[in-house]
Amino acid sequence: MKGIILAGGAGSRLYPLTLVASKQLQPVYDKPMVYYPLTTLIESGVREFCLISTPHDLPRFRQLFGDGSQWGLRIEYREQAKPEGIAQAFLIAESFIGSDSVTLILGDNIFYGGDSFQKAFAEFTTGATIFGYHVNDPERYGVVEFDSEGKAVSIEEKPKQPKSDYAVPGLYIFDNAVVGITKAMKPSPRGELEITDVNVEYMRRGQLRVGRLNRGFAWLDAGTSSSLHDASAYVQTIEKRQGIKIGCPEEAAFRRGFLTADQFEALIGKIPKCEYRDYLAEVLAETRRKQ
Ligand code: DAU
Repeated sequence: MKGIILAGGAGSRLYPLTLVASKQLQPVYDKPMVYYPLTTLIESGVREFCLISTPHDLPRFRQLFGDGSQWGLRIEYREQAKPEGIAQAFLIAESFIGSDSVTLILGDNIFYGGDSFQKAFAEFTTGATIFGYHVNDPERYGVVEFDSEGKAVSIEEKPKQPKSDYAVPGLYIFDNAVVGITKAMKPSPRGELEITDVNVEYMRRGQLRVGRLNRGFAWLDAGTSSSLHDASAYVQTIEKRQGIKIGCPEEAAFRRGFLTADQFEALIGKIPKCEYRDYLAEVLAETRRKQ
């Protein structure tokens, strides 16, 4: 399973913050925003990534992640010249995807709680898997409607009159057919290759699964100054209370077995003295105590 992190777009709603650093590089409490979606995919077992961003911002992401080998990952980079739609990512990353299945996560989506994603990835074989999450403003999102048996029967992009309160979050899992499906698509009236059109096509083929994310699950949006602040406050609250970190790729890579204890220790040794390093050192010490 290959992983695409889509981290482009203008970020104009966060102006002037985005004058010097793109939205997905802004801090969400104690880490850059893009750490959170990356960690979500590492926790689900994804190891090979393609990060897509604007020609202007891509060098910053390269600086942040390099080739990913320090975390036991492989990370490639591709430019999206213009924000011509989320689904365009499958065309940009076609050579990266090759003949594999692929998951796409939006670089500004923050998820926390439960093991719904891990299960969905473990069970995935063919077709498409997306998710539904109850929200109070579904008209801002792709909206999925279910019939009385819980089967998804329609998906609409930002409907004026939503048929349900279930929004489709920015994490999608597709088989290799997604590349061909996207190639056959036309841009929408807003000039974008719509991810919702991809999902609708899988539904038409009878190959779409929609997992409903339950109440205990958090999906945070960090696209406006206010929601960015809320996301930071949420992460701070959980981290302080539980003494664990959300969105920590080093920890996730270690726990997932992408890094051995010795490699993890060497990595920690390279981090300057700070609270983040102390946290990782404690994760390692605790694991060793349990062995
Ligand atoms: O957040 C989930 C929602 O994301 C879904 O429910 C919708 O179905 C889906 O269309 C999308 O909604 P938005 O239209 O609100 O997405 P937005 O244009 O804000 O883009 C989402 C992120 O993807 C954003 O951080 C910028 C990035 N992006 C977007 C486009 C269109 C790109 O990097 N390139 C693009 O071409």
